[in-house]
Amino acid sequence: MRDVDEHTITDEVIDRFKDTPDPRLKQIVESLVHHLHDFVRDVEPSFDEWMGAIQFLTRTGQICSDSRQEFILLSDTLGVSMLVDAINHRMPEGATETTVLGPFYVEDPPVFANGADISAGQPGEPLYVDAQFTSPEGAPLAGATVDVWQSDSEGYYDVQRSDLEGAALRGRLFADEEGRVRFWSIAPTAYPIPYDGPVGDMLTATKRHPWRPAHLHFMVAAPGYETLVTHIFVAGDRYLESDAVFGVKSGLIDPFPPQAPGVAPDGRRMDRRWRRLDYRFGLKRAPAAAAAPAAQR
Ligand code: BEZ
Ligand code: FE
Repeated sequence: MRDVDEHTITDEVIDRFKDTPDPRLKQIVESLVHHLHDFVRDVEPSFDEWMGAIQFLTRTGQICSDSRQEFILLSDTLGVSMLVDAINHRMPEGATETTVLGPFYVEDPPVFANGADISAGQPGEPLYVDAQFTSPEGAPLAGATVDVWQSDSEGYYDVQRSDLEGAALRGRLFADEEGRVRFWSIAPTAYPIPYDGPVGDMLTATKRHPWRPAHLHFMVAAPGYETLVTHIFVAGDRYLESDAVFGVKSGLIDPFPPQAPGVAPDGRRMDRRWRRLDYRFGLKRAPAAAAAPAAQR
């Protein structure tokens, strides 16, 4: 077809994809063209605005590296990451809600024994965590692999600090027979997402702030269960209602109750104020593996 105009071009472009063999890919490209064209019709961009958008996406790609993923940050700040998460994690009763992974997870973190201190000497308010991991019905998941990571008292992750040699405030623990892990750390603090790139420019231009409320990250894996990626947020944080990446869910907020000096649950003598987190996490069962096809004769 020739002579397409603003009314006929969408159908013409969609028709050009009609021979796509993969039906899912066909569905996706058709929907993409449909929504993209509707967006352009709605906004009616000038050429300068269209070029501005191209340059914004170009800068977003150019700032990406092995340690920085600006497109995920863009997805996070537009609420797309949490929408994808919500669609893929419709949780049953008894299972803990999920939230974004974020850019600061590091694979194969240092392994700690139950009861250890993961703070690597970082200063801050001591925090004692006693977490239990169970099925949705409450059966303990002995042996579950529990990765934790968090910001320091100045709002940085270890991977953001050039003054640190190794890992700090992150680690892997294994759940005991009761499905529990216990560890010492420090209270996490609020921090801004990286805002020195195009995503930061977008936040500034729209008068949005880059802050995330204080939280502790958990990634929990157990055979037969879906890996749980979530955070526990500190109640009272000023950014709970305006998280830059829309990751807060009410069920994931905990008071991290402050404790007076005295004896901690593991017998440690505390001569200053400290906090504790006691939390039960429910993991969702993984879908049963597809039944093996009947033997062929
Ligand atoms: C985080 O919680 O570590 C995080 C999540 C999304 C974007 C930036 C940071
Ligand atoms: Fe975080």
